[in-house]
Amino acid sequence: MHSTPSIQETADFIQGKTAYRPTIGMILGSGLGGLADELENSITIPYSEIPNFAKSEAVGHANELVIGELDGRTVVAMKGRFHYYEGFTLDEVTFPVRVMKALGVENLLITNACGAVNESFEPGDLMLITDHLNLVGSNPLIGPNNNELGPRFPDLSKVYTPELRAIASSVAQEQGVRLREGVYAWWSGPAYETPAEIRMIRAMGADAVGMSTVPEAIVAAHGRMNVLGISCLTNMACGILDQPLSHDEVIEVAARVREKFVALVKGIVGRV
Ligand code: HPA
Repeated sequence: MHSTPSIQETADFIQGKTAYRPTIGMILGSGLGGLADELENSITIPYSEIPNFAKSEAVGHANELVIGELDGRTVVAMKGRFHYYEGFTLDEVTFPVRVMKALGVENLLITNACGAVNESFEPGDLMLITDHLNLVGSNPLIGPNNNELGPRFPDLSKVYTPELRAIASSVAQEQGVRLREGVYAWWSGPAYETPAEIRMIRAMGADAVGMSTVPEAIVAAHGRMNVLGISCLTNMACGILDQPLSHDEVIEVAARVREKFVALVKGIVGRV
């Protein structure tokens, strides 16, 4: 369970580094961290310097918090996240969301790279998350409930805030960007799914599958934050095409959508 003093200690540390008081938070997924470079007049704090943040050994991820301005709004962005498959506890994975809330963030944009389960989708498409399936069999809220942070049994009927989704859809339409909509299924990884698992996940009602996002979204909902989820569909899920999945492909496709993704997020931030 996150303790209020450790959350506050971390928030105080961050507030000691900058006069910015962000109201919008972003978690930037694999290959999507470049969005943080768009923040103006920004300051960067490596996770390794932030008290109570988990220590990540992962290479290839920036692992830093960037605070700055985007389209006139003050934003705190996580460039790189903590994944459950890396061995972090769900408490460690979601701690930054608690800290963002303590910093004053009300609107959280969660992004990820994921596989397309819906066969009408294409690699390179962006998808607005409308709902999720937790297939991992754990939950970040297991353990004693800290009533200061949220209720014991939080309602999850509208985790992905309808008002934010409406803004995202209208910005996408104005920009002529095809924004798919669908249900995101959380798979622990780190192994990708099997073809049989993908058929199961499709039958269960998911349109996309990935290894993140759901724990952070649950904790944000617990803290009564507004959540917007945007996925980059980097590949067709296992078994749809007769070809192996590779992380290199995931990173390459995510990098290819950069311009479209940055423009969409900027447009959304300007309207939140
Ligand atoms: N499955 C799970 N996670 C992923 C995938 C996938 O196909 N692509 C990118 N992240």
